Amino acid sequence: MQIASRMEAITPFYVMELLARAKQLEAQGRDIVHMEIGEPDFMTPRPIIDAGIAYIKAGHVKYTPAAGLPELRQKIANYYWQCYQVHVPIERIFITPGASGAFLLALGVSLNPDDELLLSDPCYPCNQNFVHLFGAKVKHVPVYAETAYQLSADLLQQHWQAHTRGTLIASPSNPTGTIIQAAELEKCINFVDSKQGLFFSDEIYHGLVYEQGVASALQFSDQVFVINSFSKYFAMTGWRVGWLVVPEGYSQAVEKLAQNIFISTSSHSQYAALAAFDERTLQELEQRRKEFAQKRDFLYAQLLRLGFKIPVKPSGAFYIYADCSKFTDNSQLFAQQLLETEGLAVTPGKDFGYNDSDKYLRFSYTGTMKNMTKAMQRLERFLTQKNPD
Ligand SMILES: Cc1ncc(COP(=O)(O)O)c(C=O)c1O
Repeated sequence: MQIASRMEAITPFYVMELLARAKQLEAQGRDIVHMEIGEPDFMTPRPIIDAGIAYIKAGHVKYTPAAGLPELRQKIANYYWQCYQVHVPIERIFITPGASGAFLLALGVSLNPDDELLLSDPCYPCNQNFVHLFGAKVKHVPVYAETAYQLSADLLQQHWQAHTRGTLIASPSNPTGTIIQAAELEKCINFVDSKQGLFFSDEIYHGLVYEQGVASALQFSDQVFVINSFSKYFAMTGWRVGWLVVPEGYSQAVEKLAQNIFISTSSHSQYAALAAFDERTLQELEQRRKEFAQKRDFLYAQLLRLGFKIPVKPSGAFYIYADCSKFTDNSQLFAQQLLETEGLAVTPGKDFGYNDSDKYLRFSYTGTMKNMTKAMQRLERFLTQKNPD
């Protein structure tokens, strides 16, 4: 057996162990409340499912062009106009197997071995592993409440070195749910531009924002890579369909890579996604967005009441990254004990980086209100038993 040396740089998902244990407990008949999963429990909206089935029945199950269905690319271009008043030519839009596929293409066409990208710590762990896969390096920049757990132009300037090639920002962020303000995003893009660097913007949680809007990097530059997906806002995780917008000049290279590594994104998923922008779908998604906001408010209030610290109220995605240092300095052990004793699964901070991650837990509010209420009762009982005073 020979495992390639590049695999040494790929970090595991610690929550997977927890998930496996949760499944084991469920198989033994235990009732487990899941707050560890980054997936909406809402079903894919009906018009999307119906479109997918209809296209399969009609035999649309062959390869599509590597760049994706032109009509889907056009709908995405229209969506950019509708949401951000930005004109994106469809030649710069590629349909991909989720945001994950978009990352493979974006990083694959632009990074050389030993290039370095600046990423916030904490951040979504797979993004850094994609960078490692191409032999490039990640510099983790610790981020704190002052910048809403986001990178800033000042931080980029402080950490930029001769071999730095660019940065990757995710707003709203996983795990913190926080947003980078439009003016700061623009400053970051201008700074990277001044260094002739690469700017990657992970916009997968766009649409899931609760009181303020969120800017797209495309509003400030057409020299950015924008990664997005139908997974989260459109509740299509398992369909594996997303998209990538590339700077001018990259389309040919991206198409060549897409042809080779995917041939095409799943055809029925692309046809289904055509219905994602229908009025009926968008109305349903708007209703769900409001429900997510209510769940966020409930969870935020409950966690504060129980003694967790949340210095910046998250304004997007469906996560709360809570400081649990009042109760433990080992959030992984805390999460294991919480699962064993109370049947509540949450994700330890260790999955998202190194920056005080032992003091953090990520709670997903993707479940029903009823389950979240049950989860908070269990958490309260666990904390009372742990710290009787
Ligand atoms: C910040 C972020 N980017 C990308 C992804 C990958 O999503 P997809 O299902 O579209 O591949 C995720 C999934 O959780 C995520 O949280």
